[in-house]
Amino acid sequence: MHSELHSAGIQPENYRFLQEQVYSRAGIVLEQDKHYLFESRLTPIVKQHGLDSIDDLCALIRATGDGGVGMQVAEAMTTNETYFFRDPAHFDALRNTLLPRLREQRRETRMLRFWSAAASTGQEAYSLAMLLLEAGLGDWNIQILGTDFSSKVLERARAGRYQQIEVNRGLPTPLLLKYFARSGVEWQLSETVRRMVRFETIDLRKSMRALGPFDLVFCRNVMIYFDAATKKNIMREIHGTMFRGGWLLLGGAEPAFGFEDSFDRQLVGTATVYVAR
Ligand SMILES: C[S@@+](CC[C@H](N)C(=O)[O-])C[C@H]1O[C@@H](n2cnc3c(N)ncnc32)[C@H](O)[C@@H]1O
Repeated sequence: MHSELHSAGIQPENYRFLQEQVYSRAGIVLEQDKHYLFESRLTPIVKQHGLDSIDDLCALIRATGDGGVGMQVAEAMTTNETYFFRDPAHFDALRNTLLPRLREQRRETRMLRFWSAAASTGQEAYSLAMLLLEAGLGDWNIQILGTDFSSKVLERARAGRYQQIEVNRGLPTPLLLKYFARSGVEWQLSETVRRMVRFETIDLRKSMRALGPFDLVFCRNVMIYFDAATKKNIMREIHGTMFRGGWLLLGGAEPAFGFEDSFDRQLVGTATVYVAR
């Protein structure tokens, strides 16, 4: 077995090849200065395949045309960072303003549909599910869809098992004790919360209109990785999945400039939300 990798770096043509792999498989733009990121994230894959270097990994993808290894590269280069109740201003806005309005609007059907686009390992969708239960909506027909292009992160999301360090991030202790049970060194989310969310592998660059209509969509901390054209298409598709008057929540660093024809920007408490026109 090879215990150490050659540290000669990545050949320029292979650097471009890796950039293209990540762009074609995830739509993510990685700039010229990400050598360290490629090296740290791809080294485990190089080792897993018994290879010596990232250049060898590129040769393997080229030689086999292996979509599986290419996808592994794209998944490894994607940032999956997430945590419970991330951006608390959004959850405050939901609890104090948006949910009371939705409860009123949908009092006849008692049905609400939510989408966590770019769901990663599930913390966003499950935070919403717990918030809905805490708001007394447990007996409503609630559908939460969580999607991501990476099947690998969704496997973890479906399992609903989290490490101590993950439940320490953002999850209030009373909710941890109420909705999770200790399982070895991990915490297992209860069946009640898990069955409120369905996870599906979906690339945001594909047509998504058939998924809707949704009352509220989270699409947070993913747009920053796309170029302007990709972002524009995705915003149009998301708009097509929403009820008129539905809410879109974007990440803090992702203002929806240039989409004023489809969304109105509103401040709810301290949170910026976008209302579908
Ligand atoms: C930083 S995480 C954000 C998770 C969560 N929304 C949050 O804000 O905490 C970004 C996620 O976007 C996913 N992603 C990247 N490109 C994607 C694409 N083209 N389609 C769908 N999901 C994608 C990644 O796999 C990753 O799980």
